[in-house]
Amino acid sequence: MSATPFVFSVLILQLLFASQPCHRFLAAAADGRWQLLQKSIGVSAMHMQLLRNDRVVVFDRTDFGPSKLPLPNGKCRNDPSDTALKVDCTAHSVEYDVLTNTFRPLMVQTDVWCSSGAIMPSGNLVQTGGFNDGERRVRTFSPCSTCDWQETPNGLAAKRWYASNHILPDGRQIVVGGRRQFNYEFVPKTITANTFSLPFLLQTSERGVENNLYPFVFLNVDGNLFIFANNRAILLDFMKNKVVKTYPTIPGGDPRSYPSTGSAVLLPLKNLKAAAIQAEVLVCGGAPKGSYVQAVRGKFIGALNTCARIKITDPNPQWVMETMPLARVMGDMILLPNGNVLLINGAGSGTAGWELGRNPVLNPVLYKPDNKIGTRFETQNPTTVPRLYHSTAALLRDGRVLVGGSNPHAFYNLTGVLFPTELSLEAFSPAYLDTKFNNIRPTITAPKSMSGIKYGTKLTVRVVITGKVAKNQVSVTMVAPAFNTHSFSMNQRLLVLGNHKVAALGKATYDIDVTTPRSARLLIFYIELEIYDGKGSDEGTAVSDTKTSVLKQNNKNGASKTPTSSKKRKKAKDESETEEENSDVESDSSGGHINGEVSGKGRGKGAKKTASVGKGKGRGQGNVRANKSSQSSQGKTSKRGRLRKVQRVQPAWNTCQRGAMSKSDLCKSNGC
Ligand SMILES: *[C@@H]1O[C@H](CO)[C@@H](O)[C@H](O)[C@H]1NC(C)=O
Ligand SMILES: *[C@@H]1O[C@H](CO)[C@@H](O)[C@H](O)[C@H]1NC(C)=O
Repeated sequence: MSATPFVFSVLILQLLFASQPCHRFLAAAADGRWQLLQKSIGVSAMHMQLLRNDRVVVFDRTDFGPSKLPLPNGKCRNDPSDTALKVDCTAHSVEYDVLTNTFRPLMVQTDVWCSSGAIMPSGNLVQTGGFNDGERRVRTFSPCSTCDWQETPNGLAAKRWYASNHILPDGRQIVVGGRRQFNYEFVPKTITANTFSLPFLLQTSERGVENNLYPFVFLNVDGNLFIFANNRAILLDFMKNKVVKTYPTIPGGDPRSYPSTGSAVLLPLKNLKAAAIQAEVLVCGGAPKGSYVQAVRGKFIGALNTCARIKITDPNPQWVMETMPLARVMGDMILLPNGNVLLINGAGSGTAGWELGRNPVLNPVLYKPDNKIGTRFETQNPTTVPRLYHSTAALLRDGRVLVGGSNPHAFYNLTGVLFPTELSLEAFSPAYLDTKFNNIRPTITAPKSMSGIKYGTKLTVRVVITGKVAKNQVSVTMVAPAFNTHSFSMNQRLLVLGNHKVAALGKATYDIDVTTPRSARLLIFYIELEIYDGKGSDEGTAVSDTKTSVLKQNNKNGASKTPTSSKKRKKAKDESETEEENSDVESDSSGGHINGEVSGKGRGKGAKKTASVGKGKGRGQGNVRANKSSQSSQGKTSKRGRLRKVQRVQPAWNTCQRGAMSKSDLCKSNGC
């Protein structure tokens, strides 16, 4: 495996500040800043995925009723099976362009509510499942400035609602679980379209409450899949359909999965050349046992304030408990390029589900995994926008975290409710983006955008850093951008590349030699590369935060076989699950289907709909600018098509960021 070479087909370079036009910072301090990017993108960012062309695909659901963003050219979706609106002329998905801070409507044909996905080796986003007419769909979005969703009916063997996906070393995705699906399958599916039984999902499903949806799934360094649901985890050999390890229950036993939604990350992988690489998982937040039922009755119990950390590669793994400064349910955990974890979004009490969250937690909290226990958490500056159920967060290539969504209602309820539907996008800038680090923030000049690199080989990264470089403090990390929804970032992964040699070439140019990961078990297809200087030139600054990013993507040609299984997908009648989320959960408690469901037999109606698959009509239309006058990016749109090849961004942007140019100066220089 380690010798298998393969090529990253795409490598995109980008300056750190490339996508930070001069937006007003809402708060400024050492501990992170907030920036309102868009007051409204017309839809609520319930699912988000960063693509290799620096766009973020966002979508909510088709059965929220009309969104605030019309489809272009008078297009409408005619969908007799939609539960809210049979003819809908509004968008439920957008493509957000990070660099220009603009967005354009996209068109989904079927319901994408509470679905999942991953970036494939091709660079395409492949999203799976949803609700109602969308439950067995597979939808593809290619990174291209005029592309739209393409849908494949019956792309899934079973209906998948609240499932979790992970990209695999062989280039497929695994789709794990979903409501009343105690099994997994692969995408693209094989002709036989088997599902594979996973009794763990039945065992962790609490009657009437579930508490095990959107399982936290991570590819372990040994090639097996770590699957956490409710309060415990297994290690699954998904090829042999065999549980190879059972982890202990988190002390206390409180649930951490939907609707008692906590979050989880695979902590940064280090020492990648070691024979046995250690992998650790951190699970944070959730809701005490019984919270969901209480919340339905109007009693909102305080969220969990604990995190549990475990060495999943350990022969005798044990959870180690830590206490967060703030209790949190429905939070997100985002791996930052410097290896820290950002806990963001969520509520202080209640659970996920319609109207069931209270006490928004406005302050993100930083978790520093390498610090001593007891000194790992740092509370960050707060936002002003509550982000509860159905909120999202995603790391951008410039190091900011894009934050959006929050809709605890079954419709777009913008007024007259406790926590209005949020259509806005914000960015959180961690302290490493402070201007005081500008002179040690590197610009990557090589490898070039779209370059190919191989596994297990030396890679020289050339950077420009104007300030003084503490060579022994330089570190290079790779980050895989995640599919984020329901407090879980699927496929999120960060690698710390080892054996650095830093050589100065002239005044401000450096070559950093690193070794690329040795196999596809370590590396995911679509990667950001980050560099940071651990020290910085300000003496005494212990922050290890400067970095620049590169996106790249690889093509793995490894072949592996589908597990053999005699189990056949069994078609069964749809159970008309048209209730909304909460009542659906409730229906289980009244003797519902949980125990009646046999694992391994995917149910699901055949897609009745004959509605057209995305044909790309109207492509390239109307790059929506929510407010032209507020865009400092005038004139950028015409250049978008070339962005993928652009290595350097207009110097004006950088200058602006460095505070040497006011916004109006910038606008002048950009002709706006
Ligand atoms: C939310 O919006 C829907 C659809 O417009 C409406 O029927 C419902 O009454 C609203 N809910 C509240 C609490 O305002
Ligand atoms: C758009 O810009 C105009 C002019 O600056 C301003 O009056 C208006 O409030 C802005 N609208 C939004 C949605 O930001």
